[in-house]
Amino acid sequence: MIRIRIICLLFIAIAGNSYAQTNGPISITTKNTELIFTVGKNKRLYQNYLGKKLDKPVLPLPKGIEAYPGGGMDFEFEPAIRVVHPDDNPSLELKYQSYKTVAIAGGTQTDILLKDEVYNMGVTLHFAAYADQDIIKTWADIHNGEKKTITLTNYASAMLHFDAGKYWLTQFHGDWAKEMSMQESQLTSGSKVIDSRLGTRSNKFQAPVFFLSLGDKPANETEGELIAGTLAWTGNFRFSFEIDNKNVLHVLSGINYYASEYRLEPGKDFTTPQFIFTYSNQGKGLASRNLHTWARKYAVLDGEKSRMTLLNNWEATGMKFNQEKLVGLFDDARKLGVDLFLLDDGWFGNKYPRDNDKSSLGDWQADKKKLPDGVPYLVKQATAKGLKFGIWIEPEMVNPKSELYEKHPDWILKLPNRDESYQRNQLVLDLTNPKVQDFVFGVVDGLFSENPDLAYIKWDCNRTMTNAYSAYLKGNQSHLYIEYTRAWYKVLDRIRAKYPHIPIMLCSGGGGRADYGALKYFTSFWPSDNTDGAERVYIQWGYSYFFPANTISAHVTNWGKQSLKFRTDVAMMDKLGYDINVGEFSGEDSQFSKEAVANYKRISNTIWFGDLYRLVSPYEANRAVLMYVDTLKTKSVLFSYNLQTRYHELLTVVRLQGLDPAKSYRIKEINLLPGKKSALACNNKVYSGQYLMEVGIDVSPARQAAFSSAVLEITAE
Ligand code: DGJ
Repeated sequence: MIRIRIICLLFIAIAGNSYAQTNGPISITTKNTELIFTVGKNKRLYQNYLGKKLDKPVLPLPKGIEAYPGGGMDFEFEPAIRVVHPDDNPSLELKYQSYKTVAIAGGTQTDILLKDEVYNMGVTLHFAAYADQDIIKTWADIHNGEKKTITLTNYASAMLHFDAGKYWLTQFHGDWAKEMSMQESQLTSGSKVIDSRLGTRSNKFQAPVFFLSLGDKPANETEGELIAGTLAWTGNFRFSFEIDNKNVLHVLSGINYYASEYRLEPGKDFTTPQFIFTYSNQGKGLASRNLHTWARKYAVLDGEKSRMTLLNNWEATGMKFNQEKLVGLFDDARKLGVDLFLLDDGWFGNKYPRDNDKSSLGDWQADKKKLPDGVPYLVKQATAKGLKFGIWIEPEMVNPKSELYEKHPDWILKLPNRDESYQRNQLVLDLTNPKVQDFVFGVVDGLFSENPDLAYIKWDCNRTMTNAYSAYLKGNQSHLYIEYTRAWYKVLDRIRAKYPHIPIMLCSGGGGRADYGALKYFTSFWPSDNTDGAERVYIQWGYSYFFPANTISAHVTNWGKQSLKFRTDVAMMDKLGYDINVGEFSGEDSQFSKEAVANYKRISNTIWFGDLYRLVSPYEANRAVLMYVDTLKTKSVLFSYNLQTRYHELLTVVRLQGLDPAKSYRIKEINLLPGKKSALACNNKVYSGQYLMEVGIDVSPARQAAFSSAVLEITAE
């Protein structure tokens, strides 16, 4: 919390830029959080406080730190914004002009207008505060009022300042098949940067999310003061954490300005993406719940609506299938009881049929050999069997071996005078070109025109944006990363204007894209190609800090050596699906899976829309336990996973959270193998909420068994 501590208040107030009384403080508040700005006598805007909502205004307020300092003036650390004016003057002094607060759905929006009084440039800082969820969303509009083009070299969405003894950063890094690995470390003096330069698969290595704990030790699930932050931008991002000479921490969040100097023409605005954060003084659990509830309500497409269960064919067939094979799989989907069949990669291309990943991206016509009757036949067959039908596309990409590449070489991002550079044998289309935008929109629109009953899309993206040059942006290459992401949103805006509610899962060679810029258009995302049950506990755990369960697609596959039950129980903690050869199931597997799908349909509302409590972290123990509780506190589901537990390892009782202490709850273990009885002492017993939360129960599936799991349905009586 930037508390420019109360004891010091008087002294600091006398020392310098105390706010101009005439303007008074500008306070941005939610139910439990307050962010206070004041205007100095020099007319600059200062951030004086960020933390727990104050009961009454603390007066006088401390000096604070310049809220959004411009580069080239007297701020000695990394500035929020840096501009080079047409006359080569590289400085910006932003002075307060006015502010207004208006009501928005769920809260208020405060806009603070700042201006350079020498150079005609303005910045409006926006703060949308969502009262009930304690979320603040902040961004900046940069306006060029000058007569010539200015160059923006830095352009943060937000800058926040903190004054605590110690700072702890939790970041999430990864790679293909090991997404969202959590790391926590103490920040030391100087700068720490988390960023991406990958363009398309922007969060392949670092995710655009963080926790920042303040105080002597890092916050845990239930205790400690922190903010959770994330950037709503599906492109290069940058968070920097700079501890200065006075141990004050400056946090900058925004688009990564790496290779992205932006020339802003006269009269034009540059709007930064939104930085979303929540403040919690009760640990990370509350911060996650704030984000989840807010996201479902305001950030994710149809976030408060239900999701479909599905059977995908990627892991089971790869690209080797034909019409008959697929129709056969529809029967498997029906037997399982899922809602939808999702046809993955390999269904398209005629001059160059897509039999492997070496060709065909760009040629989005059904392969006549594999699918002689086209996609419409599949949709019809699926519908006749009581299933919905969905399809995979990767419309931003092209293989050199494709008709699209032959027809439109100028539509592709590639460096002049250099060899083409491939990832998975493919190149990125130049989405900044409006003709390419039309083409990508046309891929989706064409599918729906041909198949009005198409019910689901999986949108993939399997390469990063390296070796990139846009023929369309000739002379403006430093705009490429930004304009690409903007163009992607433009295409998605068009798609959503015409198809507002079709569920689309965002995939990116596993989980290379997941952020709230994208989730405005997508109903869920694919977290990772790694579906090994044990690995998934960590990966889904990582995402759970920032994204609600109904956005995290989790499929049961054949990856991993754990039992089908374990893998199913893991997938059930989020949005359940299957990507497995159901035809190879034993009788027991089939019965178990059918019951699991039916169980999931019964409990999924609690998982999707309930409050998440992470009880035992796999990062701290040889197991993981988490639970969801519905808003009325009448229904709850608990998931317990033993990991590499050793023979007779002592797994102590677990105290539940989020229940009503006064209510009585019956516990029932579900997802048991056919004919198996629960080994848990708590099964079918009734306990008070208080007992469950204060005394705790044994939820460890089978004390000795590694990779065993239990799902408990907990219902108020
Ligand atoms: C990568 C995705 O993550 C997979 O699920 C699958 O769709 C393949 N691409 C298909 O090429």
